[in-house]
Amino acid sequence: MTVSGAFITLEGIEGAGKTTVMALVSRLLEEAGKPFLRTREPGGTPLGEALRELLLGHRHEGMADDTELLLMFAARAEHIHRKILPALEEGHWVLCDRFTDATYAYQGGGRGIDTSRIQALESWVQQGLQPHLTLLLDLPPETGLARAGRRSAPDRFEKETLDFFQRVRENYLERAAAEPSRFRVIDASRPLVEVEEQVSQAVTAFLETWG
Ligand code: TMP
Repeated sequence: MTVSGAFITLEGIEGAGKTTVMALVSRLLEEAGKPFLRTREPGGTPLGEALRELLLGHRHEGMADDTELLLMFAARAEHIHRKILPALEEGHWVLCDRFTDATYAYQGGGRGIDTSRIQALESWVQQGLQPHLTLLLDLPPETGLARAGRRSAPDRFEKETLDFFQRVRENYLERAAAEPSRFRVIDASRPLVEVEEQVSQAVTAFLETWG
């Protein structure tokens, strides 16, 4: 696979401020003159968005953990083949709200699915594709859930317990510690201006190394 654009992902628990940070990173890429597309997971394609509704909605409350995992990767396969790879191959940058780190964190850490199953799906579906930069917005779940709760009615994940989100957060932090060259951990519990400053620094430094 020949790829010339960069693939940037944004991760974090609910209420971490991903929407605001997506807007900021978009602005920084625009200012740097990088052609890019902005997308999200689960979703990003018509089929992926339909799967998102099944995954986040309440029609299938008792969905088996394996079903949830497979649907996440089904949406991802569609997203990679129809959108992400074609864009990268054309030299566009891709800015994605969540990717496979979320599967390790939520289905692995949160639900307790064995990491080896996730790894098997990852290598099958992604064929080596990995983000070049991942911004992890980190904050205590108590703070994140309080923020998310004020926003809208909870989806199927937002209804999970504090313990679930604690495991999600820990899994994200473990992954970030294991791959420091790809991850930038942003302290999202700080006031917004400081969060924006941390993100700007991380993205500016990445732009300099990427050229
Ligand atoms: P969000 O886009 O509003 O953050 O909602 C997406 C939800 O889906 C969020 O709770 C995290 C969850 N999710 C997973 O559980 N596994 C995944 O692989 C992805 C991409 C998202």
